[in-house]
Amino acid sequence: MSAASVPRHIAVVMDGNGRWAQKRFLPRVAGHKQGVEAVRTLIRAGSERGVEALTVFAFSSENWQRPADEVSFLMDLFLRALREEVQKLHSNSVRFRVVGDVSVLGAETRSLIEEAEALTAANSRLCLNVAVNYGGRWDIEQAVAKATAAGESAAFAQWLSFAGQPDPDLFIRTGGERRVSNFMLWQLAYTELFFSDILWPDFDEAELASALAWFAGRERRFGKTGEQVRVLSTTPV
Ligand code: FPP
Repeated sequence: MSAASVPRHIAVVMDGNGRWAQKRFLPRVAGHKQGVEAVRTLIRAGSERGVEALTVFAFSSENWQRPADEVSFLMDLFLRALREEVQKLHSNSVRFRVVGDVSVLGAETRSLIEEAEALTAANSRLCLNVAVNYGGRWDIEQAVAKATAAGESAAFAQWLSFAGQPDPDLFIRTGGERRVSNFMLWQLAYTELFFSDILWPDFDEAELASALAWFAGRERRFGKTGEQVRVLSTTPV
């Protein structure tokens, strides 16, 4: 696979945790716990294949509407991951970032996020963005507010949460639904969309390989014609 056929940035909607658990007569939250294992697999396999950035949708602006015990389980899972996983990420040269409105999270969570981001800021192997209390519409709204306050309308994208990072080349959604669900609305403009029926806790290296193989076969045109793109890709530099 040539370097250009490996996505630089993959955005992932990790759907299907609840159904994975229910199929096993377990509480829904057991699926979220198992889902963390699949995130580990994604990070390891993605960095081995040369992916530069991964963004995983851990908790959306809309997920507060879930039952209170599920919301608090997800928040605890995130807090535990911050306490237990960050050193491992750091020793693997992974940069860790959180995107979303973190102002409503607990003080301990916010300070662990700050510490983790500072500790890993110079790591360059892979950037892991965890979207927490994130919504694509929230991001555009907060960027409009910042751009307005700064009195600037040029270079609007600098105010978005993903400023400075390449837009996702590949979007993966597991769990059988075919929708974007308020994820990275601005950044997904030209992203290739891969939908999988696998439930997130079952996501493994083989499924990542299928997504990457599918991606490698896409012709990315960015508004141009297929002919233009093919001429450009064979023109020597
Ligand atoms: C969607 O499945 C999944 C979520 C809302 C949560 C995803 C969170 C994790 C996998 C934990 C990640 C944690 C870290 C620290 C990165 P669903 O519950 O909607 O599944 P269903 O459609 O089967 O009900």
